[in-house]
Amino acid sequence: MSKLPLNVGLVGGGKGAFIVQPHQKAIHFDGTRRVVAAALFPDPKVALDEAANWPYPIKGYGSYDEMIAANASAGTGGQKLDYIVIVTPNHVHFDPAMKAIKAGIAVMCEKPLCLNLKEANDLVKAVRKSNVPFAVAHTYLGHWTTRFSRYIVRAGLLGEVRWVDSYYLQGWLATKLEATGQMQAAWRTNPKLAGGSGCGGDIGTHALMQLRYVTGLNVTELSAQLETFVEGRPLDDHFTVYCHLSNGAKALVRASQVSIGHKNDLGIEVVGTKGTLRWRQEEPESITINLANQPDRIYWRGAVSPGDGFLPKDVPADLLAEPTIPAGHPEAFHDAYARLHRSFEADVRKWKAGEAFSADGSKYANVEDGWTGLAFIETAVKSSQKKGAWTKMPKAV
Ligand SMILES: NC(=O)c1ccc[n+]([C@@H]2O[C@H](COP(=O)([O-])OP(=O)(O)OC[C@H]3O[C@@H](n4cnc5c(N)ncnc54)[C@H](O)[C@@H]3O)[C@@H](O)[C@H]2O)c1
Repeated sequence: MSKLPLNVGLVGGGKGAFIVQPHQKAIHFDGTRRVVAAALFPDPKVALDEAANWPYPIKGYGSYDEMIAANASAGTGGQKLDYIVIVTPNHVHFDPAMKAIKAGIAVMCEKPLCLNLKEANDLVKAVRKSNVPFAVAHTYLGHWTTRFSRYIVRAGLLGEVRWVDSYYLQGWLATKLEATGQMQAAWRTNPKLAGGSGCGGDIGTHALMQLRYVTGLNVTELSAQLETFVEGRPLDDHFTVYCHLSNGAKALVRASQVSIGHKNDLGIEVVGTKGTLRWRQEEPESITINLANQPDRIYWRGAVSPGDGFLPKDVPADLLAEPTIPAGHPEAFHDAYARLHRSFEADVRKWKAGEAFSADGSKYANVEDGWTGLAFIETAVKSSQKKGAWTKMPKAV
C-alpha cells in the first residue's frame, strides 16, 4: 500500500473562520495526511487570495464546484484529492457533500450533517449507492476517554443502563452577540443558514451523539422544550429534551448557549444498575466510576490496568494500543480531531485499495449518525411546537 500522505481539500475556512484551524492541524498531525487544496470563501477572488496567503503552499480554487470538478474521478484509482473536509456553515454542507460523493471523492463533513431531514435522506442514499467513505465530524468521539467510556458501558460493567444525562452547556450567546456582526454568532442564529434549531443543531447534536456512541442506545420518543432567552433571536438558545431510549431507559439531552460560566461543557453521566460513569470534555483526560458502597475510581487516559477488580483482563487490545502519549502529558480537542482523521484515513486507504471498509460508527460518526442528528432536531422542534408533546422519532432510512 502507498506510503504517500493522503491529499485533503478544504471547503470553507478563509477570513477568520474557526473550525478549519483545528481540522488542518489534525490533518497534519501524523504526517500521513496533508492539506493540498482549498476553496476557502464564497467570493472567488477572496478565495484565491486567501489560498495564496495560506501558511504553506496549497492549490486555491475560486469555488468548491471547481475544486470538486478538477478532482473528480470515475473510479478509486486516479484522483488527486483523497478526501475533502467541509467546514462551511450548515447551509453549505449538502451541496458540496453531494457533489463530492457523485464525483467519487470521500468526505468528512462538519456537523450537523445538513439543514433538514430531506437533505439527510438524500445524502444517506447517495453514500450507500456510491460506497464513498463519509464521516461526520463529531469531534468528541475522538477523545480516548470517550472510546474507553463506550467500552465500559457497552461491556455491561455498569449493569443495565437506567438513566443518561448528556449535556453541552455554553455561555457565549448570553447576549445578542450576532448584532455586533460576530461571524460565528451571525449564521448560527439565522434559521436559513443554521437550520430549524439553533442551540439544538449546533451543540445538542453533539450531546445526542455522545449518548448514542457511549451507550449504543437510541432515542425512540421525546418531549422537548426549545427556548429563546435573548430577545429578538429567531432560534432557540436553550434546548431541553427528555427522552425514552431503546432499552426502556430514560435520558435528558440538553444544551444551552446562555449558561454563563460554561465554556464548552459537554459531558455525560451514565447511570446503570451497578454504577455510574461521569465524563466532561472540559477536563477530558479522565473518567470517574462510582460503584455502590465502594470508593470512587478515577481512570486516567494512558494509565489503565486490565484486571484491576473493575476492568476485566480482556479490555480490547486495539483500544489499549491506540496511539497516544503517556498520562500526565495532556491530550485534548486537537488530539480528538486527529484521532477522527486517523480513523477516517484508514477507511479511505482501504477504499482506495479496493478493500472493504466498515464505516460502522465505532471510530467516527457516519452518514447514518448524521441523519439521526437531523431526525432528532426535527422531532424536537415538532414536540416543542406542541408544548412538549411526546413525539416518536422517525424510522431510520
Ligand atoms: N465539530 C465541532 O466541534 C465544531 C465546532 C465548531 C463548528 N463546527 C461546525 O463547523 C462548521 C463551520 O463552523 P465555523 O464556526 O468554523 O464557521 P465560520 O463562520 O467560522 O467559518 C465558515 C467558513 O465557511 C466559509 N464559507 C461560507 N460559504 C462558503 C462557500 N460557499 N464556499 C466556500 N467557503 C464558504 C466562510 O467564508 C468561512 O470561511 C459549522 O457547520 C459548524 O456547526 C463544528
